Amino acid sequence: MKKITADQLRKMYNGFYQEKGHTLIRGASLIPENDPTVLFTTAGMHPLVPYLLGEKHPAGTRLTDVQKCVRTGDIDEVGDATHCTFFEMLGNWSLGDYFKKEAITWSYEFLTSEKYLGIPVENLAVSVFAGDEDCPRDTESASIWEACGLPKERIFFLPKKNNWWGPAGITGPCGPDTEMFIDTGKPKCCEECSPACDCGKYIEIWNDVFMQYNKTAEGTFEPLKQKNVDTGMGLERTICILNGVKSVYDTELFAGALAVIAEFSGRSYDESESVTKAFRIIADHVRTATFIIGDERGVTPSNVDQGYVLRRLIRRAVRFGRQIKLQRGSLSKISKVCIDLYAETYPELRANEAKILDEINKEEERFIKTVSMGLKEFEKLVERLEGTEIDGKTAFRLYDTFGFPIEITEELAKEKGLTVDTNGFHAAFKAHQEKSQAGSEQRFKGGLADSTEQTARLHTATHLLQAALRKVLGDEVKQRGSNITAERLRFDFSFSRPMTADEIKEVEALVNSYIQADPEVVCEEMTVAEAKERGAIGLFESKYGERVKVYTMGEFSCEICGGPHAKRLGELGSFKITKEQSSSAGVRRIKAEISGN
Ligand code: SER
Repeated sequence: MKKITADQLRKMYNGFYQEKGHTLIRGASLIPENDPTVLFTTAGMHPLVPYLLGEKHPAGTRLTDVQKCVRTGDIDEVGDATHCTFFEMLGNWSLGDYFKKEAITWSYEFLTSEKYLGIPVENLAVSVFAGDEDCPRDTESASIWEACGLPKERIFFLPKKNNWWGPAGITGPCGPDTEMFIDTGKPKCCEECSPACDCGKYIEIWNDVFMQYNKTAEGTFEPLKQKNVDTGMGLERTICILNGVKSVYDTELFAGALAVIAEFSGRSYDESESVTKAFRIIADHVRTATFIIGDERGVTPSNVDQGYVLRRLIRRAVRFGRQIKLQRGSLSKISKVCIDLYAETYPELRANEAKILDEINKEEERFIKTVSMGLKEFEKLVERLEGTEIDGKTAFRLYDTFGFPIEITEELAKEKGLTVDTNGFHAAFKAHQEKSQAGSEQRFKGGLADSTEQTARLHTATHLLQAALRKVLGDEVKQRGSNITAERLRFDFSFSRPMTADEIKEVEALVNSYIQADPEVVCEEMTVAEAKERGAIGLFESKYGERVKVYTMGEFSCEICGGPHAKRLGELGSFKITKEQSSSAGVRRIKAEISGN
């Protein structure tokens, strides 16, 4: 195997696929635009959903990139050998172009060829889909692997639970996959040991998904217009394996962060299992927070959506910092090391450096203050307590209101000779979670992944709204966010004061006049320079590569966008603003509906 750095791997991977006719595109923002089905970009395929569903991509039918991803579903595994909340995914796609044969043959070549990763065949294992009522057994992929030179006994047939990918949200493109694993050489944990096991013998590094279905809101799988390939290789895991280190945290990507933690805690990384885990969790969470705040569409800590996840990550890092007596103010020092390490690959981090460090410091301070308020509350509670046990509901209130993790409540209780009803705490916690889950499912309804006509119309209405706002309020108005469900659009834009009732009426009337004029919605492909020349608005720092799509709606609007859209403005019916409110400092939020025709 080759010892290589993260940067060498990024270049080698993209270069390999460029040689195979793929166009290198920019990875997208971590915060998905126009897609309420997920909070963060969780895979390279996610920004490509419209193209997997059949929209034409301006860069062609073969693409490759590196995508920043955040996944918090496995947060409890963070700190083990392989899990991180932020990671980079190397990917290549076929949009209705090649299928299984090329995808697998190229994966095999990249993994095993001396010119590339040079992984010995005897260290590889793969899994393929075992088949069920939705999709047949994937004997085709197994035969291709065999023809490449992989022995039968290292090809495992596994069920949907293991060998099916997607959709990223509730609906959207998905399909059977074939996953690639490194066999670490550890003995089998049991007779049935396979890549489905989490005993650590097999480590997944790459996944080729054969996206040929669209999962509908009713839970059925309908064939897609085109057969796609979506692959994703985990950068951290792959360099960990290639360099022969024992975890992703022992790669060059975390060395600087771990050194800062050691310096400001006076502890050493491998002192004990629990100290190692605390170091890793702090390093992981601060790196993720750095990327979320520093993103081109970055957010700051808050109590909702992405901001809430960010808040939890920073607070969790502070909490593990307390365990190892990490000095106050150290998180931003760790973040600075991350910025320096990644700035060349992700220039947005350098551009947002001051904001990142400031927000991390502020959130750390806020949390410390809340914890000290919680301590006062705890003292009062102890005075009032009858008996020697703190009940579960009270422990949950300390958690929910003051951010007191149950471990802190237990420690404090112990100091006073008290106990905590942890079962009661977990029950209260679960009840709360179920409630908020019901809330999230609600917000998952609709979304661009559905690509219904109604969402396409709302998307078109968003362009008209932006055009009208710029007319009424001036060019200070710039899009800061957009989110569409089946029922409404939501549009965030820069503007420093609330709109007046008259301004709202005027914008509404303008949009309705555009709709009534009923021009055709025209889509043209051109280079970013041509789009600029044309006076189009939108993100010029194109994430879709050199060529972009420009949507023109009569004289009213000209904007770079991925689509999809209505065919004529008349389809929108009538437009109504239902709310105008503050979103954050200097940013207003409008919610609006259309009647549809
Ligand atoms: N979407 C697939 C994954 O996340 C392959 O990129 O594993």
